[in-house]
Amino acid sequence: IKKITTHQLQEMKTRGEKISMLTAYDFSMAKLVDAAGVDVILVGDSASNVMAGHETTLPITLDQMIYHASSVVRAVQRALVVVDIPFGSYQGNSSEALRSSIRIMKESGGHAVKLEGGAEIKESIIRILSAGIPVMGHLGLTPQSIYKFGTYTVRAKEEAEAEKLISDAKVLEECGCFSIVLEKIPAKLAKRVAEEVSIPIIGIGAGPDVDGQVLVIHDLLGITTEFKPRFLRHYAKLDGIITDAIGKYVQDVKSTDFPNEEESY
Ligand code: KIV
Ligand code: NA
Repeated sequence: IKKITTHQLQEMKTRGEKISMLTAYDFSMAKLVDAAGVDVILVGDSASNVMAGHETTLPITLDQMIYHASSVVRAVQRALVVVDIPFGSYQGNSSEALRSSIRIMKESGGHAVKLEGGAEIKESIIRILSAGIPVMGHLGLTPQSIYKFGTYTVRAKEEAEAEKLISDAKVLEECGCFSIVLEKIPAKLAKRVAEEVSIPIIGIGAGPDVDGQVLVIHDLLGITTEFKPRFLRHYAKLDGIITDAIGKYVQDVKSTDFPNEEESY
């Protein structure tokens, strides 16, 4: 199987082929996501919400991200594996940003890192890239800054924030980032960024006129059903399928239907 590289993602943008990206946090799910042909697997710090049940992405640690990422890497044959650098292990300190990135690459075997922010983290990005580690940017509704925003509503609706976002995207491109995620911003603004910047722009809640899309796998599969923003499409309703199957198992154990003779030694 031919592995996806950052260069191939750039070629996909050039020829107008949309890039598919999904999260995964564990071996079994990553195997399914990779086999289904997803181009980029993100070991997102959304693991903090989806895997650990935290309200925000802030509590997850670098060690925990490395555990999730190494599990995913062992399952993947084709996709490019990108790993989020968690809150508190890169902001405001470029040598710590580099150290965290090196730990991720060395200990998990991931192929690239992603961090949130624009011009403020320029120095960190340059330093990580100088070590030969590919970097994906993340702008718009950056969940590690949720307490600054105070709300999960759409970002960059006002002119000033939109201009700052465009200028940040250009900074990330100039630094040498291979791609940028744009989260929950107006579709028109995302389209403008994708046109004005030559690297692939991956959207989540950023409309159709970008170079690719990303979703959280548990949201797409309908496992997490309380979370239903406008940008999310449920491709399955696994919550019901899973609880029905488990309910049936409980019934069969209680009624002594399971295990039967053929299921016994
Ligand atoms: O952590 C995550 O899942 C993400 C995506 C939503 C882009 O950063
Ligand atoms: Na993230």
